[in-house]
Amino acid sequence: MNEFKIDPNMKNRASRFIIIRRGKSEDRKELFQVTMESIAALCAKDYTCEQLQCLLRDKTERFRQGIKLGETIFVAQLEGKIIGYSSLLSRSIGAMFVLPQYARQGVGKKLLETIEAEAIARDLKFLIAIASLTGVPFYQACGYRCLENYSLSIGDREIGSQINIPCIRMKKKLLPGINTKQTVNLDRWIAIKKITKFIFKADRIYQKKSQ
Ligand SMILES: CC(C)(COP(=O)(O)OP(=O)(O)OC[C@H]1O[C@@H](n2cnc3c(N)ncnc32)[C@H](O)[C@@H]1OP(=O)(O)O)[C@@H](O)C(=O)NCCC(=O)NCCS
Repeated sequence: MNEFKIDPNMKNRASRFIIIRRGKSEDRKELFQVTMESIAALCAKDYTCEQLQCLLRDKTERFRQGIKLGETIFVAQLEGKIIGYSSLLSRSIGAMFVLPQYARQGVGKKLLETIEAEAIARDLKFLIAIASLTGVPFYQACGYRCLENYSLSIGDREIGSQINIPCIRMKKKLLPGINTKQTVNLDRWIAIKKITKFIFKADRIYQKKSQ
């Protein structure tokens, strides 16, 4: 599968024109298409052909089974076409996919902000993401931190064995009224405060010793 190249001239273009709405059962066919194209093109640089094919077969099976009970879906629509979607399942992000030709245009970020707003409205204090290796820089940019390596083990009937898909478990504390960008800034502010405190303490010890 070929790696998809992102056009830097398109940066953040689509996110200005999209509308985000709740998913409906009629969207299923388009959501399936977005999932397949997104995995095949965007994840190709992070996984082997065998892992990608296993993931694609697994998603096909999941779509055949239908949407999980309690899963809330948000879709990003551009001129009537679904170009990305995300889902909230209990305390976790269930899905996050953007069509490759619209990647790095701020669509994922808007979808994630919508999920976080929904989670805050449900009084959730944090969100967990089992991030694909492809998704890690995206989640980090949106204020999530890595907790641990997580191996998604998928039984592949076609080859008759289990395939391991390396992922990273990530978490973000949700603060009502604070958006993704502000959380990243808040983390930076806390880090600066800690460093300043450390410098003051070191300075006091030094002064005491030199007296
Ligand atoms: C992960 C994914 C949903 C991100 O969606 P997106 O619309 O491309 O992301 P955004 O444009 O909103 O990115 C927001 C920020 O995240 C960071 N980011 C996103 N993708 C990145 C990448 N491939 N490399 C480095 N940073 C990245 C950047 O800081 C970006 O801001 P910038 O473009 O202004 O620098 C998309 O790449 C995707 O569908 N991937 C394949 C499926 C997948 O792995 N999903 C995650 C499953 S958990």
